[in-house]
Amino acid sequence: MKYKRILLKLSGEALMGSKNFGIDNDRLAQYAIEIKEAVDAGCEVAIVIGGGNIFRGIQAEKGGMDRVQGDYMGMLATVINSMALQSALEGMQVQTRLQSAIKMEQICEAFIRRKAVRHLEKGRVVIFGAGTGNPYFTTDTAATLRAIEIEADVILKGTRVDGIYTADPEKDPNAKKYETITFGEVYEKGLEVMDMTAFTLCKENELPIIVFDMNKKGNLRRILDGEKLGTLVTF
Ligand code: GTP
Repeated sequence: MKYKRILLKLSGEALMGSKNFGIDNDRLAQYAIEIKEAVDAGCEVAIVIGGGNIFRGIQAEKGGMDRVQGDYMGMLATVINSMALQSALEGMQVQTRLQSAIKMEQICEAFIRRKAVRHLEKGRVVIFGAGTGNPYFTTDTAATLRAIEIEADVILKGTRVDGIYTADPEKDPNAKKYETITFGEVYEKGLEVMDMTAFTLCKENELPIIVFDMNKKGNLRRILDGEKLGTLVTF
């Protein structure tokens, strides 16, 4: 297996599937199957999931809400998604532990790095909820931070696009996909991979990123098997 320990970043919006809001059960089940395959193959899997299908702090600010209040609401949204994913995984007999950056002791553990690592070593999927627990940070930054803390080999960013392109492939038909790209090139060309805080954190800690299409069946397993899918951001 190419990667022994991964941090999988999933988008909250992707959980909507074809719906306009909330969680699509089929999509949730599909993600759980993909993750189970990775676990069954012997990979240690940690997950961070966004909350955009339920609440977006930045949009709430545009509507007049206080930014910090909106960000905290967004963090709670990620906990809802994390609980849904936990439930879907446990329905498939995958052992999981949910750790939150904001204490909610009735529903999940608090984030404790050493405990998280222990869970991973025991083959449990660890889901990190509530982002970093701080406003003004994205779930991409939370994913990066946790990946570094648990010493993941790679951060796998599951998106609906199958990698990083020279331009937005949904708008520009001539856009070309990069198979690999360096951190420096991403800065130079002003490409959007993650927000800059998350991206810089990856670069400074030499954590490679793979951007790939999570909605295509079997892709996660293929990456673990060493297939070159999506785009690898490296040094
Ligand atoms: P090991 O000691 O490594 O075997 O880990 P463990 O997670 O099995 O042991 P622990 O006794 O810590 O946890 C047992 C169960 O309680 C797990 O499902 C945990 O997720 C859950 N748990 C642990 N701490 C908390 C907490 O603060 N709040 C909630 N709601 N559940 C917790």
